[in-house]
Parts: sequence; structure tokens; C-alpha cells
Amino acid sequence: MAFELSRHPIDIEALNAKFESACLNDILAWCWKEFGIRAGIGTSFQGAGIVIMHHAAEAGFGFQIFTLDTGLLFAETLELKRLIEGRLGIRIETVKPTLTVEEQAAEYGAALWQRNPDLCCSLRKVLPLQNKLRDLDVWITGLRRQQSETRAKTQILELYKFDVLRDQVILKLNPLANWTREQVWNHIRTHNLPYNPLHDLGYRSIGCVPCTRKTAEGENERAGRWTGFDKSECGIHTFLGENI
Ligand code: ADX
Ligand code: SF4
Repeated sequence: MAFELSRHPIDIEALNAKFESACLNDILAWCWKEFGIRAGIGTSFQGAGIVIMHHAAEAGFGFQIFTLDTGLLFAETLELKRLIEGRLGIRIETVKPTLTVEEQAAEYGAALWQRNPDLCCSLRKVLPLQNKLRDLDVWITGLRRQQSETRAKTQILELYKFDVLRDQVILKLNPLANWTREQVWNHIRTHNLPYNPLHDLGYRSIGCVPCTRKTAEGENERAGRWTGFDKSECGIHTFLGENI
């Protein structure tokens, strides 16, 4: 059963006004107290997700934690999952697409990402996420306003329609929406947390191998995703539904 505002009335506008100057602990503590394990952290093992998982583990907030594994992730990302689980003493659920990469190639042709990355992202990320969100009331993400123009208006708490056909909504909590990249990396360095070694090789936003490249000085941090296509989002924050 997805989130129903009528069953669990909350004043999103008032909470956002409060959260804008609240610390990460206060935002996560509110979520844990109100929703417990009906809230889940979705992580792609980039800086923000690591900060959120670390804080939740330290504070004893036992949220569900999950990652969408497209089958096309970097080996370094998969290794980082194992390192984080060990270091933080947590278990991270792997959510997979219905089709393996080979089955997708048989059905839609090889390297779908080179011809139709929107369809590939829908099959490998958006639909598996949509299924996962049916188990949750709150989806906790690492979205930050500073990441790109498409993310500049991100609120800390949003009501997100994740299934337009079935009219299902979820609360989306973006507790680091107003953090800078520097704040995220300061946290990781201060606590000596494991991170993706690809960041040290010039990758700033890391997704699937075929659709990720290094970025140059002056480019925004998501410019290295889907080079050559008019695409800057995989769809989990956009196509899936809408903020309401
Ligand atoms: S994406 O749209 O390009 O994939 P990005 O990598 O910037 O997004 O991540 C933004 C937020 O989306 C992450 O902090 C995380 O909450 C969620 N997210 C992105 N990719 C995944 C994934 N593979 N598994 C789980 N959550 C993800
Ligand atoms: Fe496919 Fe690329 Fe999207 Fe990964 S990022 S699911 S390879 S189109």
C-alpha cells in the first residue's frame, strides 16, 4: 500500500520551512519517528547516499536501504556496496530489472542504450524502482539542488506521484537538497568513509558504464551522463511521475 495523505496527514509546506534550517539528524529523526521502516533510502553509492547511510547507521535509524542494480554498473560501484555494508554494519537490498542484460538484448536488440536510452532506463531503473516504491511511504534520496538545473527546485520534502496510472503517491525526502558538493565530501573525508575510487579519476556523477564519462572543469557535475543524447535524467526523478 502506498502513502495516503488522508491516512497520515502532514503539513508539507510547514515541514519544509522548518527543515530548510534543520540539521540532517533532525530531518532523519522526524522521518524515523513518523515512518520507521516504511521509509527507505535509495542509493547509487555516490557521495550524498553515503552521507545519509552513514548518519542513519550512526543514529540507529534502521530505514530500509536499497540500490537499483541495472547489471551495467562499474565493478568499483559493486565493490563499494560490499565495503559500505561492512563498514556501517548494514544490509543493502539489490533491486534488479525483470530482464537480464542478455535477455534485453534478445528482445530489444544489442546495446539499447546507444539507440534508445530512455527505454533502456525505463526497463532497467524506472520500472524496478516503481515496484519497490509500492512497499514504502517515504523514499529518501540524495538529490541536491546544486547538481544541475533540473534539480535546482528540489524541496526537502515532496509529494511525488510515482504511478500516474494507478494514482499512487509517495513522500520523497531529499534531506541534503540544500547541501553543496563540498559539504558532502567534507563529511566523507572527516569520517574517513569509503567512496567510489572513480571519483578520484575525474568522474563526478557515476551511473551505468556505457552512459558515464569523466567531466571537465566548468561542466556541471551531471554533464558526464548520456553524452550525445538530449538527456540529463534517467527518469526516476522525472518520467516516473510528477511532484504534486
Ligand atoms: S540519476 O537520476 O542520475 O540516476 P543520481 O545518480 O544523480 O541520479 O542520483 C540521485 C539520487 O537518485 C540518488 O541519491 C539516489 O537517491 C537515487 N538513485 C539514483 N540511482 C539510483 C540507484 N541505482 N539505486 C537507488 N537509488 C538511486
Ligand atoms: Fe541503460 Fe544507460 Fe540508462 Fe543504464 S544509464 S539503464 S545503460 S540507458
